[in-house]
Amino acid sequence: MKRKKRKLNRKGFTVIIILILIIIIIAMFFKQNKKDGLEGIGYNQLEINEINKLTKSEIDIISKYKYNSNLIYIITSNNYDSNKLDLYMKYTEKYKDIDYLKIFELINHKDFNEKKINDYIEIIKKYNTVNGSINYVNNYKDSNIKLNETTLSFLNEKYFIEEYLDRYIEYYNTHKNLEYSEIVKRVNSNIDKEFYTDSKKADTSKGMYTLVNKFYYLDSDYVSEDIINTEPKYSRDTAKLNKTAYENFVKMADAAKKENLTIKITTAYRNYNFQSILYNNYVKNDGVKAADTYSARPGYSEHQLGYSTDLTNGNNISFDKFETTDEFKWLQKNAYKYGFILRFPKGKDYLTGYMYESWHYRYVGVEIATYIYENDITYEEYYAYFLR
Ligand code: DAL
Ligand code: ZN
Repeated sequence: MKRKKRKLNRKGFTVIIILILIIIIIAMFFKQNKKDGLEGIGYNQLEINEINKLTKSEIDIISKYKYNSNLIYIITSNNYDSNKLDLYMKYTEKYKDIDYLKIFELINHKDFNEKKINDYIEIIKKYNTVNGSINYVNNYKDSNIKLNETTLSFLNEKYFIEEYLDRYIEYYNTHKNLEYSEIVKRVNSNIDKEFYTDSKKADTSKGMYTLVNKFYYLDSDYVSEDIINTEPKYSRDTAKLNKTAYENFVKMADAAKKENLTIKITTAYRNYNFQSILYNNYVKNDGVKAADTYSARPGYSEHQLGYSTDLTNGNNISFDKFETTDEFKWLQKNAYKYGFILRFPKGKDYLTGYMYESWHYRYVGVEIATYIYENDITYEEYYAYFLR
């Protein structure tokens, strides 16, 4: 009995070993077959080694297609997305005459839509730009835009405004040395027009977002919204400002005070007549040309709108030195958190129409102030693109 049992056990053992061997042989056979598959398609050993690092379903996809000489670059790229492998295979095979990197970029693009692939490819073939192609096909195909290399470059700009395209092109024709982004920036700020002569009435229906500058003026009898008197604690002289702007100014000044900094209003709201007296005085002393660089003509001053204020510090430092104060440094980092922007920044005078004014702040609300701060643009640029 005992012997029989041992015999049986040995028999069982042999069966198991044979089964294992069969499994190993079958597995090897399949592996060989798969290898034969890839080899049969035309991949070399190095390529096969790379492909074998992928999952089974990826290898199955690859096996469906003909040999792809760019495959290894695709699957080893940082931007490789395994969910898109089938698309890569399909379209690099279909559009062999196009650089595979363009196809790869196209399929990876966040706005890629497979249904439109023929249209994309047509534009890419002509202009060699994936971004331009997707943007045009997805957004402007049915517009009246006459497509060429220049228009395609413009509509790819972040702040492109379709309505302004003719103006961009006109400006481009006389400023070919400038980048497309610079032309968009300037035209959006109306720099292709002449200060004061091409001006129109400010759209005051925009309320606190109204843009007032050398192109948009306020009537002499414009009634500013919610103007209140500022308190002596917060202003050097008696001043007036829009109520919301003032409330936020107070919050800002209080926050600065916690860091031992004193920010004070000098003048804020100024009516048409006040601005008239100021400007005419400057002209008398400095001449029109100089006065226009730092003072608005009556009707063209943002101060008349009621949402702007000029600032000083506790020592009543003069405007031209305000930039050197800790208060200014604090404002640079924090004003946007209270909805204020530095309205005439350094180096942007050709867009705003005024020289750098470290002391002049405009209330536009936290959301817009934050965008302007983070994207380093002027209110002119913001207004044209988002509010016009
Ligand atoms: N200083 C600014 C530009 C004004 O006069 O409104
Ligand atoms: Zn000012």
